[in-house]
Amino acid sequence: MNYRHIYHAGNFADVLKHAVLARCLTHLKVKETPFRVIDTHAGVGLYDLRGEAASKTGEWHDGIGRVLKAEMPSTTRDLLAPYLDAVKALQAFKGRDAYPGSPEIARQMTRAEDRMIFVEKHPQDAKKLAENFNFDGRAKILELDGYTALKACVPPKERRGLVLIDPPYEERDEFETLVQSFIAAYRKWPTGTYLLWYPVKNFEETKRFLVELSEAGIPKILRAELRVKSMSNTGGLAGSGVIVVNPPWRLADELNTLLPWLDLTLSQDSGHGWNVDWIAGEAVVERD
Ligand SMILES: C[S@@+](CC[C@H](N)C(=O)[O-])C[C@H]1O[C@@H](n2cnc3c(N)ncnc32)[C@H](O)[C@@H]1O
Repeated sequence: MNYRHIYHAGNFADVLKHAVLARCLTHLKVKETPFRVIDTHAGVGLYDLRGEAASKTGEWHDGIGRVLKAEMPSTTRDLLAPYLDAVKALQAFKGRDAYPGSPEIARQMTRAEDRMIFVEKHPQDAKKLAENFNFDGRAKILELDGYTALKACVPPKERRGLVLIDPPYEERDEFETLVQSFIAAYRKWPTGTYLLWYPVKNFEETKRFLVELSEAGIPKILRAELRVKSMSNTGGLAGSGVIVVNPPWRLADELNTLLPWLDLTLSQDSGHGWNVDWIAGEAVVERD
């Protein structure tokens, strides 16, 4: 486990993932009944973008750095408001170089009656995560394998909520593990909203992943993908995507408005592009 999210915090992939997460939480809050957020690969939750590690890569400059400087139409501003409000609220509290990870976005966007489970396997990061969030009685922090924890944590007793699966893809079989783990969780809790983050590095790999999901017999799978640059032979990150299973209604329309703006704002070369489409629609089509 070499991956440390601090080197990538606030980059273009975090912007997409965190903007979609914040939209989903916004919709979950429309109903008064409580919900639960389960973050299987939580990281440490809070980042210092001017610290030594984040400064080494400077990835955030082409992510949240660009977004905060950009002009935006009012429709985009409204759609990004829950995400950017979370960034600004943390900065007001911790200083202008702070950036919220998914646990902090969830913490800010949940209500007194909602609950959170944050799972992190790396012992040092799990310790930091606990230091950062133990003060909040609504959050439970687990130092565990995220996939094992997921199996044990669904369905939550609220029967409403969201699972974020955001692994580092260090393992060769991570796509496969993620799909199998998601399917097992879905079978136990088919009404939860699931956000699955994936990297875009290799066209064939991404295609295999999407086909596998589309053939799982699970309806209502939405994909939002943003590529900021051309695929390179060295396998660097060219973009990323978020799969949303059981998305809140209107999310597809919102992402169709948001992604063209993110595409324009975050693109790095002519290889950029975006997609919002249904991997599996409202009804599953039976295959021969
Ligand atoms: C991409 S980062 C998470 C970022 C975080 N979700 C966010 O958006 O702020 C992935 C995290 O997963 C952790 N990790 C790696 N393998 C894991 C596993 N099997 N179970 C739980 N956490 C794991 C890594 O230590 C890392 O902190």
